[in-house]
Formats: sequence, structure tokens, C-alpha cells
Amino acid sequence: MTIFSRRSVNTKYNIISTLLLVALFMALAYSNYRREQSLILKGAVDNARIISRQIIETRDYLSKSVTSEPEHNENLIPQVAATRIARQLTRGSNYYVRQVSLRYRNPDNRPDRFEARELTTFRDAKAAETWQVTDVNGKKALRYLLPMVADESCLTCHGSYDTAPAFVQRRFPRGHFSYGYKVGEVIGAVSVSVPMEGLYRQIGANLRWDVLYDGLVLLVFILISGSIIRRTILTPVKNVAAHIAAVAHSGNFTERLVQRGEDEIGELIGSFNELMAELDRKTVQRVESEDRYRNFIEIAQSPIVTFMTDGKIIISNQKAEKMFGLTKQELLGQSIFDFMEHGEELQRAVAEYFSAGSSNLIGTTTRQKVRDVCGRLFEVEMVISVSQSDHSPMFSAILRAIKE
Ligand code: HEC
Repeated sequence: MTIFSRRSVNTKYNIISTLLLVALFMALAYSNYRREQSLILKGAVDNARIISRQIIETRDYLSKSVTSEPEHNENLIPQVAATRIARQLTRGSNYYVRQVSLRYRNPDNRPDRFEARELTTFRDAKAAETWQVTDVNGKKALRYLLPMVADESCLTCHGSYDTAPAFVQRRFPRGHFSYGYKVGEVIGAVSVSVPMEGLYRQIGANLRWDVLYDGLVLLVFILISGSIIRRTILTPVKNVAAHIAAVAHSGNFTERLVQRGEDEIGELIGSFNELMAELDRKTVQRVESEDRYRNFIEIAQSPIVTFMTDGKIIISNQKAEKMFGLTKQELLGQSIFDFMEHGEELQRAVAEYFSAGSSNLIGTTTRQKVRDVCGRLFEVEMVISVSQSDHSPMFSAILRAIKE
């Protein structure tokens, strides 16, 4: 997470939105894929059902209207004719159509393992149809079965041996298991198999195109939204931050930013400008009061020096300059402690004031010996007052030479 927190807002936004959108697109692509898959399956089942019905209708029609013809022409046996017609119908496609029965007459109509299982189910509990997508030789295929139920007309040839036509009796002797059906019993089923491999491959290819297309949309979206966010939020915020840093460095509070718009960024810029105005006003006030102080000490009768906690002289008046024998430029920046005979005492007093809030040397009049530029020592009376400026105390020492 620390690695993440160090990234820029833009990068964070890009990472988060990319992750969210990738998840969204993946979910959409997956649900699309599933929908296409179920549509394809539904189409295949519909086709298989139509073919099966076609076979059953053809066979029922022939069973009812053809009577003695099969005797001379076996191609007119209802099952044989219906299967041939169905084969011709599905020629050129890779559909496979059969009519199967558990008690088959033609060994070609012997059910495979899947068909046998479904036929047993049909025989025991009547169902309208059944289908399943299974692996056939390692390839996906839809297996569809529609049961065929015996009616009165079927029993001519599938009823008892004694009433069967001679050509049937010739082919299938008494006691053959293909006799003895009753009306309403399941004789067999139309079995259709539709290879799904090619169709699934097609939707797989569709999915790849989907992902590619979504990826492009995603890229464009992220580029556009990233640039909008950069332009409307990040750059203005960065700009304000840079100005704050520059002001902190230069102390120049006259700077103002152009406020475009009334939105949050506009408010931020407005607040920045207000802050600058306030600081500017405060600075002017401080400079004024400093000027006033300078003027005031200039007309005072005694030498006065103002110094910081470290002893550094920051303001002095003419009288003080004369006393120490230095110009203002020479005096400013020097340490007051160097001009005292016992500078370390004053230094200790300042430190004490700093830590304890009071000191015996501050606020009271004491006698001290100070040294001028030539090293001459002379006695003075000294009063030190403290004033607070920008949180760091300033000390003003008022000196009065004692003439002996
Ligand atoms: C005219 C006689 C005849 C009639 C009527 C007839 N069948 Fe058949 N059926 C046959 C013969 C013969 C075969 C075997 C055909 C072959 O050699 O492929 C057969 C085969 C079948 C098969 C394929 C399984 C197998 O035994 O080889 C099914 C299923 C079937 N008949 C169902 C029916 C149904 C249902 C009806 C009634 C709607 C019907 N048949 C009416 C003579 C008939």
C-alpha cells in the first residue's frame, strides 16, 4: 500500500478505473459468451427437434397410408423411407440422424450407450424429449432424442407375428424381440446428433473480438477521462501547490491566482487568494509597526538595541551605534553578548527566560559593563524588555551610560 500511496493521483485514478473497467468488461464479455452459447444450443435443439418431428410425421403418414406396397418394395417400409428422407434433408450438413430401438430389427438401428440409456428412461417413464451436450470422440456434440410411440397402424408389423405381413415374417422369425408391442408403448426414438465444436469455436472467436474491442474502448476511455481529470483537477491543484511553495520560499504575498469557475477548484483558488490577501495585510501591518518602532527608538535619548534569542542584533538606534563606535551596517548581525563584559551571563538569562518564562536580568534595571569597538569598557544601566514577534521573542536592551 505504501507503494500505491506514493503514486500520483492520476496514476491511482488510472489504476483503479482500469481495474474496475476490466472487471466490468470481463463480466460483460462472459455473460455475452454464456448468452451466445445458450442461444446456439437452443438453435441446435430446435433444429434437431424439427428434423425428428419430420421423420416421425413422415413415418406415421407412411404407416397409415402404405399397406401392401412394402411387400414388393422394402424402400417403402415406413421407418426405412422416413430415415432416407431425413438423410436427404440433412445431406451436406454434419447432422447425423438415426432411428434406434432397444428391440431393433435392423442391427444398424442398434442404440449406442447414450441412446440405450435414454431409451430405457423413455420406456420406464414417458418423457417428451431429451438432449444433452456430450463429448463425442473428444469433440462437443448435442445429442437429441425424440421417442416414438406405437399406434394402431404400427402394430400391423410390430404387433403379433401371426398378423404381420409375410415379408416381415420372412425377415424376422416367430419369437423375434421386435414383435409384441402394444399401443402407447415406446418403440424407439429418433436420434439426432449435432456437432457443436464449430459453433463453439465461432463464439470463442466472437469473444476474442469482443475482448479486443472492449480493450480498445477501455484504452480510449482511460486516455480521455485521464486527460479530462488532469486538465480540470490535477493541473489546477498542482498549480496552487506550486504557488504555495513559491510563496513559502519568497515570502512575497502579493501573488494572486486567476479564478476560473465556481467549482471546488475555483473555491480552492479563491481561498488561496484570500489567504494571500490576509498575509499581505498582516505583513504590511508588521512592516508599519516595525517602522514605527524604528522611528520611536531613533528619537529616544538612550542607546537601544533589539536582539534575538541568539544575541543577534536586528535593530539599533544612532545612540547605540555611537556608543559602540560602529555604523548601523556594522552593528546589525553582530552578537550583543560580544559587547558585554559578562556576555555569558546575559546569554544564560535569555536561555532561562526562554525555558522558565522569567529571568532576574530581564525586566529589571541592572548595572553592566559594555565594551566598544576599541575594547574600552564602561559602565551602563541596562533594562531589557521582551516582545513577542512571530512566535520568537525579541529582546530590547535600553542602555544608559553612567558618567563618573
Ligand atoms: C409395413 C410394416 C411396418 C409398419 C406399418 C411399421 N414398421 Fe417399423 N419397421 C418395419 C421393418 C421391416 C423395420 C426394419 C427396417 C430395416 O430393415 O431397417 C422397422 C423398423 C422400425 C424401427 C427401427 C428399429 C428397428 O427395429 O430396426 C422403428 C423405431 C420402428 N420401425 C417404429 C415403427 C413405428 C413407431 C411404426 C408406426 C408408426 C412402425 N414402425 C410401422 C416394419 C414396419
